[in-house]
Amino acid sequence: MKLYIDDANVSEIRRLVDLYPIDGVTTNPSILSKVKGDPIEVLKEIRAVLGEEKELFVQAIPTDAEGMVGDARAIVGLLGKNTIVKIPSVPEGFKAIRILKEEGIQTCGTVVYTPMQAYLAAKAGASYVAPYVNRIDNMGYDGIAVTEQIQDILTMHDLPCEVLAASFKNSQQVLTLCAYGIGSATCAPAVIDAFVKNLAIDGAVNDFLSDFAKIAGEGTTMADLIG
Ligand code: G3P
Repeated sequence: MKLYIDDANVSEIRRLVDLYPIDGVTTNPSILSKVKGDPIEVLKEIRAVLGEEKELFVQAIPTDAEGMVGDARAIVGLLGKNTIVKIPSVPEGFKAIRILKEEGIQTCGTVVYTPMQAYLAAKAGASYVAPYVNRIDNMGYDGIAVTEQIQDILTMHDLPCEVLAASFKNSQQVLTLCAYGIGSATCAPAVIDAFVKNLAIDGAVNDFLSDFAKIAGEGTTMADLIG
């Protein structure tokens, strides 16, 4: 499963990319509104941290297909290859996705609350579809089940489109979808940090440290002893 950071805080992105096997960053207008500074400069900084190979997702703002296509061309022109344009999975969005597919611009059908939205975005030519797991839960439906059903539909219809599960509240939701074989997940930094947040793990690491200090001295490493 590919793992993306769902955030636009450049120092957090730098920290997480340094520590974890991260495949890229996803943004949307709300995420960009939470960080200080001009959104275009922020996106350029994120691209610089990611380098050319990791993927950066940026959402088109207009609500009509022609406007979405115009935003998509501008976004990809600015941020280069491996930039994917998020397009809301609504009728004008399906039209934009189809046009962009013909131009060779990769898209992600976003704002997905229902399997039919995902099916139509994928059929129109989206490379990814992004169901909002936690927001679906909050509507009284089962976000995990909806996401799994979307995966099944894409597989059944042999659509070349990957599920990019989004909107997570906790690491258990991510694990459940990872075990199901979902292609990608995007998570806020706090959810990523919670993947390996466990007193038993910390305790085991500290025990190894103190046991070795007893025989070699505080802070001594293997490299120190080998010389
Ligand atoms: O990528 C979509 C995501 O940002 C929505 O997440 O936490 O606002 O429901 P959330």
